[in-house]
Amino acid sequence: MAMPRFIQLHREDGAAPRDELARGLAQRPAMVAPKFFYDALGSRLFDAITELPEYYPTRIERAIFDAHAPAMAAAAGRGRTLIDLGAGSCEKAARLFGVLEPLRYVAVDISVDYLRHALDHLHRLHPAIEMIGVGSDFSTELVLPADIGGGERLLFYPGSSIGNFTPAQALRLLRQARTVGGADGALLIGVDLVKDRAVLERAYDDPLQVTAAFNLNLLRRLNTLLGCDARLEDFQHVALFNEHESRIEMHLQARLAVTLHWPGGERALAAGERIHTENSYKYTVDGFDRLLREAGFARTRCWCDDAGWFAVFLAN
Ligand code: AVI
Repeated sequence: MAMPRFIQLHREDGAAPRDELARGLAQRPAMVAPKFFYDALGSRLFDAITELPEYYPTRIERAIFDAHAPAMAAAAGRGRTLIDLGAGSCEKAARLFGVLEPLRYVAVDISVDYLRHALDHLHRLHPAIEMIGVGSDFSTELVLPADIGGGERLLFYPGSSIGNFTPAQALRLLRQARTVGGADGALLIGVDLVKDRAVLERAYDDPLQVTAAFNLNLLRRLNTLLGCDARLEDFQHVALFNEHESRIEMHLQARLAVTLHWPGGERALAAGERIHTENSYKYTVDGFDRLLREAGFARTRCWCDDAGWFAVFLAN
């Protein structure tokens, strides 16, 4: 089979992140979008988070796939085009190649550069599967290149990243997934579920402080991308479960009154004032099922762990 192909759909121009960051800091409360977490160091810190005993989603999702992948494959149908949203290292999808037997594997991530190494490696292990890397920021709009081939599609969105969108944004993305999948398409998606506040807050505020480092790394990003003068020691990581909104919120809280300066702007923060950096929505099984149906999926199936902490849905 031919070597993997790579397609970059669009790239942000250099000024766009600066403008977005400056606009976010001007808001009340100030905010920075979570997509800025993931520079090289941030991605490594996130990988470290997934190794933490307190951060249960990765471990439980893997166990659900290990236990139920054959049933998922039987329900989804084998030999499909597997479209992996936010593929990164492609590791989660690759673990399912044996049962899903995809005809073609389309890995989508914000930049094709993240995918080259992983796909070249995977292609050596699975030469019979056609592989395509697509660079696309599907958080703004999920579109795929026209020339990724036909056949039935299975969209794969593991990791509960859908929780990092507001429910309205999540509905929009699910609708787009329905459209991209086509009439015979299916979606396999990981969803984190509502649970005890203490369990949730510990998962996002671990004693080793890896999540704190992940959050504080955003200040380094502000300094690099915006030319800001933030001092990491002036801020503290805060993670709390907002029960009313059913979401974990992460913030960077000023330890003292500080003013952030950057070329063309500044933002004063009082002591205790926060920069909102991430939401991670937690769903009930029924709530997410409703969202899938509202997005146009007629049939849903769901696999959970025994404690009911995490769910994998198959929708078509
Ligand atoms: C990527 N996403 C699903 C993670 C989450 O759990 O919301 C990001 C994360 N933030 C802090 N810890 C993990």
